[in-house]
Amino acid sequence: MIFTIALDGPAAAGKGTIAKALAAEFGLMHLDTGLIYRAVGKKTLDAGRTLSEADITEIARGLSEEDVQEQGLRTSAIAQAASRVAAISSVRDALIEVQRAFARREGGAVLDGRDIGTVICPEADVKFFVTASPEVRAQRRFEELRDRGEDVQFDDVLEAVRLRDERDSGRKSAPLRQAKDAVLIDTSDLSIESAVAIAVEHARRALKRT
Ligand code: CDP
Repeated sequence: MIFTIALDGPAAAGKGTIAKALAAEFGLMHLDTGLIYRAVGKKTLDAGRTLSEADITEIARGLSEEDVQEQGLRTSAIAQAASRVAAISSVRDALIEVQRAFARREGGAVLDGRDIGTVICPEADVKFFVTASPEVRAQRRFEELRDRGEDVQFDDVLEAVRLRDERDSGRKSAPLRQAKDAVLIDTSDLSIESAVAIAVEHARRALKRT
C-alpha cells in the first residue's frame, strides 16, 4: 500500500513541523522539498557569478543526496535564492521525477512544499494547505533565524517573507496554490499541538478510506 500525504503553504506557516509529526505518527518517510530548491539556490550563490537558466537547470539535474542535507541550507539568503531558481520552469521540470519517486516508495510518504498537492502528487490520499498571517509567519521565522545565530531584524524578515510569497504565488510555473481538495489549516491562532492534532485526525480518516 502507498499512503501519500501532501502539505503545501507559504514560508514559515508550520508545514515542516506538521509534516514531521505526521511522518512520525504514521511511520512514513518525509521529504521537505524546499530543501531541494534551497540546495539549488545555494549552488547558484556559491558560483559567485550570474548563471544562465541553462546553467541552473544543469545544477538541478546534477543534485546529489548530500547536497540536500538540512545543514547550512536554512539561511535567509538561501531562501531567497531558492525562490528565484524555483521560478524557472526547466529547473522545476528537472526536479519532478526525484520527488515523485520518493512519493511512490513502498508504504508511502509525506511531502511538503509549494506544489505537492497540485503538481507533484495530485493523487495524494490527503492534502493540507497550511497557512498563517504574514506577521505571524515572519515572527516565527525571525525567532528561528535568530536562534540559529543570524543577525536579523523583524521588519526585514517580514519584507523577505512577503517578497517570497509574491514570487512563489505569482510565478507561471507551478505557483503556490491551495489544491481544490486540500484541507486548509490556518495556524495564525493555533498552537503547534492543535495544528498537528487536526492534521492527524484528517489523515487518520483518509487512511481508513484507502
Ligand atoms: O521553509 P520555508 O517555508 O521558508 O521555505 P522552503 O519550503 O524551504 O522553500 C524555499 C523556497 O523553495 C520557496 O520559497 C519556494 O520558492 C521554493 N519551493 C518551491 O517552489 N516548490 C516546492 N515544492 C518547495 C519549495
